[in-house]
Amino acid sequence: TTVEWEAESYDMGGHDTYMHKEIFEQPDAVDRVLRGRIDDRFSTVHLGGLNLDAHDARKVRRVKILGCGTSYHAGMIGAQMIEELARIPADAEPASEFRYRDPVVDPDTLYIAVSQSGETYDVLAAVQELKRKGARVLGVVNVVGSAIAREADAGVYVHAGPEVCVVSTKCFTNTTVAFGLLALHLGRIRDLSVSDGKRIIEGLRRLPGQISEILKQEDEIKKIAKGYAEARSMLFIGRVRGYPVAREASLKLKEVSYIHAEAYPASELKHGPLALIEPALPTVAIVPNDDLLEKNRAALEEIKARSGKILAVAHQEQEKADQTIVVPKNEDELDPILMGIPLQLLAYHTALALGRDIDKPRNLAKSVTVE
Ligand code: G6P
Repeated sequence: TTVEWEAESYDMGGHDTYMHKEIFEQPDAVDRVLRGRIDDRFSTVHLGGLNLDAHDARKVRRVKILGCGTSYHAGMIGAQMIEELARIPADAEPASEFRYRDPVVDPDTLYIAVSQSGETYDVLAAVQELKRKGARVLGVVNVVGSAIAREADAGVYVHAGPEVCVVSTKCFTNTTVAFGLLALHLGRIRDLSVSDGKRIIEGLRRLPGQISEILKQEDEIKKIAKGYAEARSMLFIGRVRGYPVAREASLKLKEVSYIHAEAYPASELKHGPLALIEPALPTVAIVPNDDLLEKNRAALEEIKARSGKILAVAHQEQEKADQTIVVPKNEDELDPILMGIPLQLLAYHTALALGRDIDKPRNLAKSVTVE
């Protein structure tokens, strides 16, 4: 039994596409995933469906996050937040790879299945395999009552509301916020201080307003997108917190515009992709103002020295970039939630300029319920 969303959710509300509508719903969607969950008294959050008491939470030695497509990328951001805030080793892996490699299932690992639809077959099969081997599995799912939500032992609902466009935008963002909540919760049970807890809560509360600020730059981003519509290929780079952002932005662009795009860790540029740099291959660089800023600037210099065109997404103008989209700064750990949002608009407007079928890209399905 899947829960039916209300019919009014499917109204286009004056937008030309669902993708556009869903991008602009993000401030409200993020507000929803936060609502009723913040506990200021203990600088933590309450996650009603988690079913993981403090005693069990302290015993978790490792976190393994599984998902496909955009949900996998949200899981990569989630893994980093869990490592940073809860200091539990965490990583994400495509569910499809995990289930075919005869994984070692470890009783001290907390497994987390991520899915917008809650119906993706590869994720469901991974959950079933894990449960068969006695693992504890949480779901981070959008559709209430979906197969993965039912199969998991417990979980966190993402509350993004219905997402109709095949490519995921608001659900991606809400999933990363849900992981922020989970990371904070696990952190505050373990070693995260009260003041860090407060700092993260304040950061979470700033997100909806900051997303609205980013969305106000649409006209500017639309102009930038026109300049990229002719590109045959694009490179997306980021380092540590910026890398999953680069991956998701690259996926978004290829899904809706059909422009070939590849994401690389900025640190790996010199181990191959630098050979590709020339004026015809634009680079999009994620450049947060954190302790890696200088490293990222050095990467921009490497690209500029080879006449590569650069679009930076950063917290301040980047001198080496041809163009910079400036996004508001949040707490370092939460910056990845915001930095991909302008690039959703970049993908959207590039696809629009190319006349693509934005809500239903060729060859893709909203949820892949078969093997
Ligand atoms: C399909 C969709 C993607 C989505 C992926 C995982 O490939 O086209 O947009 O990210 O499935 O879907 P899920 O519902 O599990 O998040």
